[in-house]
Amino acid sequence: MTNPTGDVAERATAGFQREYGTEPAGRWAAPGRVNLIGEHTDYNDGFVLPFALPLRTVAAADRQDGERWTVWSELSGETITFGADEVAEPGQVTGWGAYVAGVVWALREAGHPVPGARLAIASDVPLGSGLSSSAALEAAVLAALLDLGGLELPAERQPRLAQRAENVYVGAPTGIMDQSAVIRCRAGHALFLDCRDESVEHIPFDLDAAGLAVLVIDSRAPHRHADGEYAARRKSCEAAAEALGVPALRDVSVDQLDAALARLDDEETRRRVRHVVTEDQRVLDTVALLRAGRVRDIGPLLTASHVSMRDDFEITVPEIDTAVEAALAAGALGARMTGGGFGGCVLALVHADRADAVADAVTAAYAERGFTAPGTVPVLPAPGATRLD
Ligand code: GLA
Repeated sequence: MTNPTGDVAERATAGFQREYGTEPAGRWAAPGRVNLIGEHTDYNDGFVLPFALPLRTVAAADRQDGERWTVWSELSGETITFGADEVAEPGQVTGWGAYVAGVVWALREAGHPVPGARLAIASDVPLGSGLSSSAALEAAVLAALLDLGGLELPAERQPRLAQRAENVYVGAPTGIMDQSAVIRCRAGHALFLDCRDESVEHIPFDLDAAGLAVLVIDSRAPHRHADGEYAARRKSCEAAAEALGVPALRDVSVDQLDAALARLDDEETRRRVRHVVTEDQRVLDTVALLRAGRVRDIGPLLTASHVSMRDDFEITVPEIDTAVEAALAAGALGARMTGGGFGGCVLALVHADRADAVADAVTAAYAERGFTAPGTVPVLPAPGATRLD
């Protein structure tokens, strides 16, 4: 993997010019995301509160006659091409190209006449860090194809389509959070999403005004069986909902939790349910505090979410727990793993003037334990997918 430098939109344009010998018709960008709170609640019909990152994936593209799609990716350095046959059924295009072919497939399956196209993709969203690089790729490609084809698909319906590309074409059983975040987020806001009916509220999240910063810490932990473990957690939640006779765990409130747990005979399942039910409540409590302008006060909820993921949902790893502990010891107001788990990133809410000290403390704790040095970057809530020009 090369480490590209320079503006990501310019890199996509330069790639397009080099590969296809002409100017692109336009450029479309979609961001990565972090989830402030609400983990593994989306596929339980619950609540999440992600915000978009200033790191983006850009697709430079033009329209072509016929049903053929050609895609160059900066990251792999390769160009792939596929036609109608390869998007007739899921699974024909594999690797990174599956996310692109999946979007074409999902659009066609929903009855949209997708135009042929040439695309060049560049990205600043790191792969495999749990910052939704795949959703960013899907959303940038979707935005490009919709515009190039003059296709009508309202923003609120786009996440489901991109999610189908990932669930069915790529074959990853993820929820609706990532695609919703990268498509629907707004700058300066977190996206309060009800994953049952996909209604949203844009919650002001003004870190600057509160003198705070969110530090994203890339644990650099290798993903350990993340796909299988994710699917297992999802299955266990669905089985618990069935055993409790509710459509989804979202339908169990914290007030009903003890009674619900008493009806489950397996200790592991009880822990999984306790995480999801309490996590939904922590999202609601976080939203209430943010609505009241009490940004500093959400710290303990973030940390409680981490403890729940560590002890009840059991999806953290030593590097992640080390980052959270070191950040809190260095004065972070709250810290938690963000994303699916088994690696990925931690976010820490810090006083802006303590951001460097917290980053240094995490780096030192890593060195002490012999872990690969973490990446640290302060972030502000950025806009969702958009056409650049
Ligand atoms: C991954 C999935 C999301 C969500 C999170 C956990 O990011 O893609 O749908 O389930 O894990 O909150």
